[in-house]
Amino acid sequence: MTQAHPRISKAVIPAAGLGTRFLPATKATPKEMLPVVDKPAIQYVVEEAVSAGLDDVLMITGRNKRPLEDHFDRNYELESALQKKGDASRLAKVQESSDLATMHYVRQGDPRGLGHAVLCAAPHVGHEPFAVLLGDDLIDPRDPLLQRMIEVQEQHGGSVIALMEVAPEQIHLYGCAAVEATAEATAEGDVVRISGLVEKPDPADAPSNYAIIGRYVLDPHVFDILRKTEPGRGGEIQLTDALQ
Ligand code: G1P
Repeated sequence: MTQAHPRISKAVIPAAGLGTRFLPATKATPKEMLPVVDKPAIQYVVEEAVSAGLDDVLMITGRNKRPLEDHFDRNYELESALQKKGDASRLAKVQESSDLATMHYVRQGDPRGLGHAVLCAAPHVGHEPFAVLLGDDLIDPRDPLLQRMIEVQEQHGGSVIALMEVAPEQIHLYGCAAVEATAEATAEGDVVRISGLVEKPDPADAPSNYAIIGRYVLDPHVFDILRKTEPGRGGEIQLTDALQ
């Protein structure tokens, strides 16, 4: 039996940014490794992908991002020291991040923007729909947002982008979506059709106050478009422009 849609199994996490907004904390430490409570921020993002059933994770990294690879790998020295001490609970915590998912890494090389980072995932992703999770946005682990987005993609096809209403004076910080009601209203009432997208608009030009938050489930056709997308806002190749 052939499935109408292949099951989505791959998550792409762009993590090549320089972290300039968090300097000096990010001078020698990747921003993804900054702790949130007791874990590096990036671990929450990988855990979110795994809870949505995506256990193949590709990180797009760059220079100075080695700590990310080390965090999701075994650390035998530390593990054996904890074993000798009989510290089972810390040992479990150390092993948790290396047992989470099948991790893959690719380097972006030139920092040419989010769209270019996502394009670096093309050879790994192939022809299946896939998820993109941006590490700057942390989602409450109790919120099944990504799982719901996958369901919507499997039902309707195309690409699915998470939106959040923000104060109009905040919209220039985000990608912004023009939306219209879907022909087929969902029982959950949580899906709209996106009729336009603009990256970080001036408030006067923003078509709405719906901001793109960093969760996407994308049709692989986006790669063909990204290859042709010219630099946009900030001189960078923008994912928002390709989706538009
Ligand atoms: C990126 C996207 C933007 C989105 C934002 C969400 O921007 O380009 O469309 O709204 O993430 O975090 P960045 O914040 O990386 O400049």
